[in-house]
Amino acid sequence: MRYLRGKKIGIIGLGNMGSAILNGLISSRAVGKAALIGFDKEPARRAGARKKYSIPISRSVSELVTHCDIVIIAVKPQNIGEVLKEISFYGKGRLYISIAAGITTRRIEKALGGKPRVIRVMPNTPALVGEGISALCKGRYASKSDLKTADEIFSSVGEAVELNEKYFDLVTALSGSGPAYFFYLKEALIGAAVRLGMDNKTAKKLVLQTALGSARLLLESGHEHGLLRQHVTSKGGTTERAIAVFEKAKIKETVARAVRAAARRSKELSRD
Ligand SMILES: NC(=O)c1ccc[n+]([C@@H]2O[C@H](COP(=O)([O-])OP(=O)(O)OC[C@H]3O[C@@H](n4cnc5c(N)ncnc54)[C@H](OP(=O)(O)O)[C@@H]3O)[C@@H](O)[C@H]2O)c1
Repeated sequence: MRYLRGKKIGIIGLGNMGSAILNGLISSRAVGKAALIGFDKEPARRAGARKKYSIPISRSVSELVTHCDIVIIAVKPQNIGEVLKEISFYGKGRLYISIAAGITTRRIEKALGGKPRVIRVMPNTPALVGEGISALCKGRYASKSDLKTADEIFSSVGEAVELNEKYFDLVTALSGSGPAYFFYLKEALIGAAVRLGMDNKTAKKLVLQTALGSARLLLESGHEHGLLRQHVTSKGGTTERAIAVFEKAKIKETVARAVRAAARRSKELSRD
């Protein structure tokens, strides 16, 4: 972990994502526990993190920032204003990494004042099990090595890709909201099986393993999804019959409309 060596990392906000990142950094051994420090405004969350991860917990944002080289901001977008305000008084010269959905690097730079080094990241919830995908972009004053630093952090909870910030609304609509689309499809498949007489537990097992197996096959075979789909679609067979129903219902167009709607909503929610 070349870029993290010798760096002290602070995480503000120890909820779902903050804890997932903490967990990833510790379990992947990207850094030692002595290099980590956390803070959450919720006393129960602070106590929980101290007990679970045995890392030092600060009493305030300002205390955390003064002890760190890298500060990960993992609070909800509606709380980021108060965090940035406190940081702007105490924390010049650090690398700031924000995962707050819809909050642009420009907005963070403006709130911090001066020429702060800011990286924006859009992770997703599979990060909770080390299988996330995170998009990363840098603000105006961050360097390429700052991006590499963030890449090392988010690679500890899955994959990381660098992307121009102009795509972040689309990333939010695709991989940010994406897990929910797959869960929705699973709900639909399980529901269909139950309606046709199968018990819920068996249907769930069949559908979940099919999802996991299909994703692994796609990743490990090196084949395109179109080809793999053809492999299970023999002429006149069952899959062909099902796909014909999807095509008639214009499912691809519906999916495209849904992603466009999510990206539009992300744009509405983000403010400079
Ligand atoms: N979950 C996702 O799928 C996902 C995906 C991509 C990006 N994100 C982004 O990740 C961020 C965190 O999401 P999450 O799901 O982890 O939220 P969460 O579970 O609510 O965690 C946020 C934590 O930050 C605490 N907090 C609020 N204000 C604070 C402050 N001023 N100082 C310190 N701690 C403070 C919250 O305490 P209270 O509960 O008391 O407010 C809460 O414990 C969000 O900005 C979200 O947009 C989430």
